[in-house]
Amino acid sequence: EKGGYDHFMLKEIHEQPKAITDTYRGRLLRSEAIIKMAGVEDNMKKFLNANRFIIVACGTSWHAGLVAEYIFEDIARIPVEVEYASEFRYRNPVITENDVVIAISQSGETADTLAAIKLAKSKGAFVFGVCNVVGSSIARETDAGAYTHAGPEIGVASTKAFTTQITVLTLMALRLARAKGTISSSDFRHHLLELEMIPKKVEKALEEDEHIKKIADIYKNSRNCLYLGRGYNFPVALEGALKLKEISYIHAEGYPAAEMKHGPIALIDENMPIVVIATKKGHYEKVVSNIQEIKSRKGKIIGIVTEGDEQVRALADHVIEVPETIESLTPLITTIPLQLLSYHIAVLLGKNVDQPRNLAKSVTVE
Ligand code: F6R
Repeated sequence: EKGGYDHFMLKEIHEQPKAITDTYRGRLLRSEAIIKMAGVEDNMKKFLNANRFIIVACGTSWHAGLVAEYIFEDIARIPVEVEYASEFRYRNPVITENDVVIAISQSGETADTLAAIKLAKSKGAFVFGVCNVVGSSIARETDAGAYTHAGPEIGVASTKAFTTQITVLTLMALRLARAKGTISSSDFRHHLLELEMIPKKVEKALEEDEHIKKIADIYKNSRNCLYLGRGYNFPVALEGALKLKEISYIHAEGYPAAEMKHGPIALIDENMPIVVIATKKGHYEKVVSNIQEIKSRKGKIIGIVTEGDEQVRALADHVIEVPETIESLTPLITTIPLQLLSYHIAVLLGKNVDQPRNLAKSVTVE
């Protein structure tokens, strides 16, 4: 049942090329240069007339929402707020009939997310669900939605659900950008082409597995770990830190790289590993100067870099290469080495990777 892998988590990490393909199949029609999503088409007016999108989710799904915020604002020019469902539901939020609420949930059963949906509906907002489990409570409670089609996710640490959620949200952003005219037809086609190439690139990123295992062995006894990224890769840094803490029980924090100097830089010494997402697209030079700041304080740098990178390689203690893509799609690729790094550290420490302590696959209590 684990398909020859030692753990469901590893199997699910390796399933991502197929899961992402399954997610865009029938929706991304490149030869016709269109995106077809029934749940979006049927409610196009609601989406186009919305004052803003409010994304509600928890945990890893909340991180997917943060990535979506960048792409919705960047290419579709729609204002987006991303909320922890648990905070949103209790804060007497301002919601109107002109808001579109997007709820993201792998299980479709998360109690706080479900409660946030009910609240938004009671205020007259249109609620759209992005779920993996077909027929789940959230899928049923929402006005419309799009499934991720990732297949069953058994490992408690979410992996393929995250990348397929980002895929669905990217398709939505592209479709709405086209409808609004905020993306040119050539740029749109370029995005479709690049998105179609993502599964192959994820496969390539997975080939770094053995190299990542060696890095995991060097840092497995660390007490702390920092993850840094900027722009589209800031949420990826948060997700990388969550993956490490939940399965290896090593304390980890994700930060926007530029926030370092506002506090966390005080933590850095020769015992602190810092994973920095430093791919070529998106603020590369700025990230390089953040790396120099860390280096001068003797932190140990693990750089996630674009194939062929030289500048970061010269500064970092280790680099993990990933294939190049357009900036908005980099999270789908840079996430992969972070998943593998957490997995290997947890396995080397003898932890129960698929069922970490204190955690449940669906959180049906608040
Ligand atoms: C982390 C993880 C959790 C879930 C969160 C939301 O790996 O699995 O943080 O992402 O509990 O769950 P769903 O997406 O089912 O609503």
